[in-house]
Amino acid sequence: MGRKTLLLLLLLGVLGAYYVHTPLPDNIEEPWKLVLLNAVLKTVLNLSLFAELLGINHFMDTLMFCMSFQEVPPTSAENVTVMETTFNNVPVRVYIPNRKSQALRRGLFYIHGGGMSLGSAALFAYDELSRQTVNSLDAVVVSTDYRLAPKYHFPSQFEDVYNSLKWFLRQDVLEKYGVDPKRIGVSGDSAGGNLAAAVTQKLIDDPDVKIKLKIQSLIYPALQTLDMDLPSYRDNALLPPLTKSLTVRFWSEYFTTDRSLEKAMLFNQHTPVESAQLFKFVNWSSLLPEIFKKGHLYKSPTHDTSELFKKYPGFLDVRAAPLLADNDKLHSLPVTYVITCQYDILRDDGIMYVTRLQKAGVRVTHQHFEDGFHGAITYHGFKIRDRITNHYLSWLNENL
Ligand SMILES: *[C@@H]1O[C@H](CO)[C@@H](O)[C@H](O)[C@H]1NC(C)=O
Repeated sequence: MGRKTLLLLLLLGVLGAYYVHTPLPDNIEEPWKLVLLNAVLKTVLNLSLFAELLGINHFMDTLMFCMSFQEVPPTSAENVTVMETTFNNVPVRVYIPNRKSQALRRGLFYIHGGGMSLGSAALFAYDELSRQTVNSLDAVVVSTDYRLAPKYHFPSQFEDVYNSLKWFLRQDVLEKYGVDPKRIGVSGDSAGGNLAAAVTQKLIDDPDVKIKLKIQSLIYPALQTLDMDLPSYRDNALLPPLTKSLTVRFWSEYFTTDRSLEKAMLFNQHTPVESAQLFKFVNWSSLLPEIFKKGHLYKSPTHDTSELFKKYPGFLDVRAAPLLADNDKLHSLPVTYVITCQYDILRDDGIMYVTRLQKAGVRVTHQHFEDGFHGAITYHGFKIRDRITNHYLSWLNENL
């Protein structure tokens, strides 16, 4: 073997080790599957960063392009009719059970995740989840799309979802799909969980909407940007698939493509002096149960003296950060289900919302997965995916 070949092999080995090396907690099930998946994710992320560095394409646009290969057409099957239409000009996928039914059906309005920049109802993972929901609940499922960053910023995402939901909640639309107006729920994962929580709050005092939600279900939701130094942020900062740098990038892209907000968020130095009265709503020192604090010391976010907040006030808007709603607002929310995962940077967002909802007198079921990680419900072929999905569907079946 020549020297060049040896060097080449060495280089390949180092690169391979870099891609496959993923520091995983001991109790993760099927770790090799996650290692492989993360190697693919890392490759795609690095490719997107590289393309951005060269000025070829925005980071999110490359990611979105790579993801688009996982989209599937709206194919009807023996048990379900699938169609694409628009609700208030927002594209949606509707799944209607084929079995004849005398009674009206339950309705579930689903909002996909993807950090406000990525994803669609057409992705295989969401299409699969919608079909499973139809099968196990005999419900009508509406899986909505919404405009995405970097082209569109807050509040476009929120408004699209809200307009689409409002259309679904019209008496004539519900009649058309045979949905029982008393048994409608909203559900979403990650950024979709954020939007689900936000639209559920908004509906409470919207005089235009007479039909109210029966339940909301939030799957590892992102709920606030005020404090990006929670224990779950510290513990899981480097844990794939959702690292701290990616989380901060997603959040800041929701409001602007200006990278200065991202930099400030990374050091938790983006909150204005005026926001001090909001700290109590995200104070993990008082809102997290002891086991999740685990020796972490509370530091309140540092005040920002620049003009970031004036330029991008969205990050303290309750429609972007539902955890900032006051107790009166929370008090009126419907029955709630929250899924959190131990190995998830967004874990404490969900747990703090559970605490606040409980204190406000809302009936909440909190399902925490000790070996769960962010995004698990969308990972086809993982045992944890099926476990979370089963819990989720059986909660919906009992409560919707
Ligand atoms: C957060 O909560 C802790 C303990 O409950 C309290 O001592 C502290 O003053 C609170 N900080 C803020 C900024 O609300």
